Amino acid sequence: MKRDLLRVGDLTAGELDTILTVARRLKGDLRARRPHPLLAGRTLAMIFEKPSLRTRVTFEVGMVQLGGAAIHLAPGDIRLGERESAGDIARNLERWVDLVMARTFLHRSVADLAAGARVPVINGLSDLHHPCQVLSDCFTLLEHRGKLAGLRVAFIGDGNNVVHSWMDAAARLGFDFVLACPPGYEPDPAITAQAGPRVSVTHDAEAAARDADVLYTDVWTSMGQETEATARRQAFRPYQVNAPLVQRAKPDVLVMHCLPAHRGEEITDEVIDGPRSVVFDQAENRLHVQKAIMVWLLGAA
Ligand code: CP
Ligand code: NVA
Repeated sequence: MKRDLLRVGDLTAGELDTILTVARRLKGDLRARRPHPLLAGRTLAMIFEKPSLRTRVTFEVGMVQLGGAAIHLAPGDIRLGERESAGDIARNLERWVDLVMARTFLHRSVADLAAGARVPVINGLSDLHHPCQVLSDCFTLLEHRGKLAGLRVAFIGDGNNVVHSWMDAAARLGFDFVLACPPGYEPDPAITAQAGPRVSVTHDAEAAARDADVLYTDVWTSMGQETEATARRQAFRPYQVNAPLVQRAKPDVLVMHCLPAHRGEEITDEVIDGPRSVVFDQAENRLHVQKAIMVWLLGAA
């Protein structure tokens, strides 16, 4: 049966481990300039309802490095759900391509693509989940810390799509995850409940940051929420990752951000450009981990 990657929770701990291991191998191959055309002749369709730098470039470059090709479909090209339903788009694409990646507003849209297509569908960010980001972040953490089990990851900010994927990952990979958010910006209660006891939510940023191995943040206003930006700027002001907050964490804390960053809002220049920041390692690793996801989904690992 074909597999999709709609959320981190679609994968077992063993499958996560396999993907991270394949990513390490592919990163090594690239560094050593060893060709690895595991997807020669295969094509990926990339559907975007929202803007992207990292997701678009890393999937496209990844396919080139794997010997395949990628086709970029911009929001105006197909007008998903408006010109044509997600189900019909899926039934067309599966006739031509081997793999679909979609960045959508509604999580339902990427789920409908997956339900309609006989080829694997990858969620490249929806309003509910961002699995490729968090799998890449787990890979980055593994590189820097050697293990995930037992770490304390503190996310300071909005209970958003990236947080939901972190909660899925904590439940499977055995680390503690705490979110500090303003009242009213908590994550989805069902996803929180599914994650179990390793996940907690507080409104106290300083308490969350205490003894953290990782301080993570993301924009206060996600794509699609632009009309709320002013109210959010107000509500999130006490939830900035700045030098005093970093002081509360472990001395060797890793500062992470999925990017794009709104410098001076959720994170200061001093911290994002500082010695504890690994944000560009995270961005690089999107490439290696997504190549591993594609290879794994197509059974070519
Ligand atoms: N982090 C991330 O997904 O970046 P893009 O929005 O640029 O793809
Ligand atoms: N939470 C952000 C992540 C961007 C990569 C958004 O959805 O816009």
